[in-house]
Amino acid sequence: MKPVLISGIQPTGKLHIGNYLGSLQNFVELQNSGKYECYFFIADLHSLTENFDPKEKPDQIMDVALDYLAAGLDPKKSVIFQQSEIPAHSELQMLLSNITPFGELRRMTQFKDKSESQPENANVGLFNYPVLMAADILLYDAKFVPVGEDQLQHLELTRTLARKFNLKFGKIFLEPQPILTEAKRIMSLDDPTKKMSKSRPAGCLFLDDDEKTIKEKIKRAVTDSGHEIKYNPEDKPAISNLIIIYSNFSGITIKQTEKKFENKGYGDFKKDISEEIIKNLSSFQIRKKKLIKNKTAVKKIIISGNKRAGLAATKKIEDIKIKLGLTID
Ligand code: TYM
Repeated sequence: MKPVLISGIQPTGKLHIGNYLGSLQNFVELQNSGKYECYFFIADLHSLTENFDPKEKPDQIMDVALDYLAAGLDPKKSVIFQQSEIPAHSELQMLLSNITPFGELRRMTQFKDKSESQPENANVGLFNYPVLMAADILLYDAKFVPVGEDQLQHLELTRTLARKFNLKFGKIFLEPQPILTEAKRIMSLDDPTKKMSKSRPAGCLFLDDDEKTIKEKIKRAVTDSGHEIKYNPEDKPAISNLIIIYSNFSGITIKQTEKKFENKGYGDFKKDISEEIIKNLSSFQIRKKKLIKNKTAVKKIIISGNKRAGLAATKKIEDIKIKLGLTID
């Protein structure tokens, strides 16, 4: 049997190239490697921890489904589903909460950042977010989880909870491993000290941006002093970020990128970055436009994914309940 691989993306607005290079592009490569039994879901329950408008949520959920398919996820090769449609995720979150130390959750960076950025809505869901993430992963016996660097702390907690549960109640969970890409932390185009993030749209390049916008955003992207195209994240954080972006979109290494632009200036480099992004994203955007015209088919794919994920999850939650002594003979 192939090892299980799982990951998810929150429907909270348009995806940016950080999401793409850090996770989605890798989802497609891992799926196509044929080495894994793949599950990819729309993390809609997680998205409720931030301020949101229920009227916008269905479109946001559909948008992640469209992004998944347009990027190349294939329902024949992967189970693509919607988290909230599988009640076992919430159920396991509740069960795992009982073995989760309060102190571990309190020190989570994402919780600290988000409760600061939305102080009027520092809710318990946000606090308990990593436990839901552990449930997402442990429910499917996933061995591998492709994510960006910002999720590593949550994955470490998942491993801790798996270990703790196994020790206390008998072995039932696998300890998952993260899979990172070279672009595990794409930085903001307007400030290379901050992670590119949907919550700071000014520094984002979105997958749906048109040609003109991409060119403008790359042209405006912050650079460092000097003029050399050299990878050095400490001294040249802005150019190093652009090198990572270029190298990942063009498929050449960082060294090859440095060589290619050895005698060129920032202006030439930026022109080529825009071209490479446009080339890559245009096929994605064409596929997405086609899919938008056939949302009924997309919905069917999700419904069928929900059925498949539901079968695996229901079986696992029953086994977990037995371990916890919740089943009477
Ligand atoms: P989300 O929706 O915030 O982000 C989706 C994926 O994009 C990665 N990412 C980045 N990678 C590189 N550079 C960036 N600037 C950047 N910004 C975001 C994230 O690391 C993530 O992989 N908690 C998850 C969703 C989730 C999940 C899970 C993932 C819920 N349950 C179980 C894996 C397994 C999240 O915040 O995604």
